[in-house]
Amino acid sequence: AKEPVRVLVTGAAGQIGYALVPMIARGVMLGLDQPVIIHMLDIQPAAEALNGVKMELVDAAFPLLKGVVATTDVVDACTGVNIAVMVGGFPRKEGMERKDVMSKNVSIYKSQASALEKHAAANCKVLVVANPANTNALILKEFAPSIPEKNITCLTRLDHNRALGQISERLNVQVSDVKNVIIWGNHSSTQYPDVNHATVNTPSGEKPVRGLVKDDEWLNGEFITTVQQRGAAIIKARKLSSALSAASSACDHIRDWVLGTPEGTWVSMGVYSDGSYGVPAGLIYSFPVTCHSGEWKIVQGCVCSANETSSFFCILHCVFLTQSIAFWVGRLVSRLVNLV
Ligand code: NAI
Repeated sequence: AKEPVRVLVTGAAGQIGYALVPMIARGVMLGLDQPVIIHMLDIQPAAEALNGVKMELVDAAFPLLKGVVATTDVVDACTGVNIAVMVGGFPRKEGMERKDVMSKNVSIYKSQASALEKHAAANCKVLVVANPANTNALILKEFAPSIPEKNITCLTRLDHNRALGQISERLNVQVSDVKNVIIWGNHSSTQYPDVNHATVNTPSGEKPVRGLVKDDEWLNGEFITTVQQRGAAIIKARKLSSALSAASSACDHIRDWVLGTPEGTWVSMGVYSDGSYGVPAGLIYSFPVTCHSGEWKIVQGCVCSANETSSFFCILHCVFLTQSIAFWVGRLVSRLVNLV
């Protein structure tokens, strides 16, 4: 039998945590043959609620769940963990911009970074979900310099999955038949959802999404804004931010990272830029990646072919926007790091 993997979820008493921990315990994240021990961290005011979540995990009698640690102590939470999903933080409420929540998260990520650095298992993989996800991941890296850069990522898979969902609805095809959209940039409204390489599996083979949709106006306009603003639309509808979709996408992110992406398929992950596509090295930025043997790799050569009708927009987005987003994110981060 496999040794259990220890998975930390911070902010586990919150709404994403509540959706996420049962998925992990059911094997959605690491596979149906992988036992897990779940570590749950939250803050003192949520301690009772956290204990309630622990009671429910026990009550659900998950066969793969070999233990639960529910704590408000950062060191206990981080000790020995192989995977850390950082969900804890201050969520964006209706009418709030991400920058409003940013300052609240800086001190949180500082202390959790040093606890992970000192007490997590060697080669611990980190996924930052809490917004602003790119920035929190960068702060975490700043304060945990001994964790390899490649082990610190942030979640843009939800945006990726939202793009797949929009294409599948528009074309009335199964979402599982759509692949290779790309989320470039930041997990925020400045991201660029890119369908220029996306395909649909049809009875007559793989077809480009652009060719099937045949409506560049929609693809270059409403599609992009819908994906960019989906988070705000969910908040408006639920009066709470996305939770089940965020939890499910976090499982997708870790599963593909650990177990690998299928042949011919890439996914979007916020990772350390190595300078690919002109994005300054050292920024956490969402790229198309493939994963093998627990390592991600940025897909190269995703530039647009010049004969596309939308090539102007495409090049504009791929080159200019990418550069300028990176520039502004960089400025923001350097200001933040100076603040700490
Ligand atoms: P929530 O407010 O329901 O839960 C957050 C939890 O974090 C609470 O239980 C709170 O007590 C806890 N917490 C606060 N400070 C903490 C600390 N220092 N250590 C540990 N736990 C702490 O929020 P929700 O809806 O679960 O969202 C969590 C985060 O995920 C938010 O920042 C939200 O903006 C972000 N998010 C990111 C998405 C993405 O795609 N990257 C999608 C949806 C949400």
